[in-house]
Amino acid sequence: MTHPVRGRTLAVLLLSLVIVALVAIGAFLPVGRWWPHPTEPPQSTSLRDAAGGRPLVGSAVAGDAESSALTDSAYRQVLATEFDLLTPENQMKWAAIHPERDRYDFAGADEVARFARENGQHLRGHALVWYGALPPWAKELGGRPCSEVRPVLRDHIRTVVGRYRGVVAEWDVANEVVDEQGRLRTDIDPVLRACGEPILVDAFRWAHEADPEAILYINDFDIERPGPKSDALEALIRRLKAKGAPVNGVGFQAHLRTDDPDLAAFPAQLRRFADLGLHVAVTEADVTVNMRSGAPAGGEAEKQANMFGALMRACRGEKACRSFTFWGFADTHSWTGSPTWGRGAGTPLDSKLRNKPAIDALTRTLTQNRPPR
Ligand code: XIL
Repeated sequence: MTHPVRGRTLAVLLLSLVIVALVAIGAFLPVGRWWPHPTEPPQSTSLRDAAGGRPLVGSAVAGDAESSALTDSAYRQVLATEFDLLTPENQMKWAAIHPERDRYDFAGADEVARFARENGQHLRGHALVWYGALPPWAKELGGRPCSEVRPVLRDHIRTVVGRYRGVVAEWDVANEVVDEQGRLRTDIDPVLRACGEPILVDAFRWAHEADPEAILYINDFDIERPGPKSDALEALIRRLKAKGAPVNGVGFQAHLRTDDPDLAAFPAQLRRFADLGLHVAVTEADVTVNMRSGAPAGGEAEKQANMFGALMRACRGEKACRSFTFWGFADTHSWTGSPTWGRGAGTPLDSKLRNKPAIDALTRTLTQNRPPR
């Protein structure tokens, strides 16, 4: 019969030996290399970290004069940790920031600017000359003589750009000024209707005077592929620059659909504008999916992932591509969120802030493609 005390001593000794051996082996093992460290949560790299600033990764911040997504703490958390660059989705448009001729309202824009400052993020300002989101008083300017409209635009640009001088890093000075046929939108844009193309030279000059450091963009959609619209935009930029307008960049909105033609021509489109000595950027990316049955149809999430991946690959591969902004990151806070005409859900996260396949495709694109030197 084994002596009980001696038996226990032997057991303790054996156990100690095993522990010492395990600790010794463990010291030579790179922890987590062969198996995940049990106390660490599964790692998921943010797009911002995967990109390392090439490009800056951004999102629109949902909100307007009446509401703000920044009241939603889960939304704030993702916005603060995943992005380098924020664009107020509507808060800097005329309707929100200049609701009456003699009254500016900076509340919504200031809220986004404060959030960006607290979280060390850059800001894109959007938009100074645009036919959309105009308050009624500004829409009426289209019927007025240029001599009346010009000082109004000058005051608007000086006031708004001046207020965010040193805070907004880049501005969409001209947004959607060319139509699908390549004509200047003098029909629906009151400022262009009153004053024509020369007012764009003024607009860029005034913005530059109000903040000499800001990078000034022309921004548009449907220029991801060649065609009359991007031809006209290039010709317009050449003319504006020849007249001394400080145009610094072209923004490709990239509001896409899964059934759009592929993006094989997009890298060359980026280069074509970069060749004019400009920055380029993806400024409003979303990719809507087929929702005719009320939910994304089979295979749509993968098509969406491929399209986001192709967009990011093109930007990552272009030295002049400064930033890549999603027009919202979650379906709950996106203009594509609720299905319209059978399409929707255009963001990379779902309404519960869970990753769609797009996130994996975007992350893979960034980790597998180095930015050019
Ligand atoms: C959209 C916003 O996302 C919506 O919330 C708003 O109701 C309408 O405008 N091109 C642009 C953006 O330049 O300003 C538009 O944003 C989308 C199309």
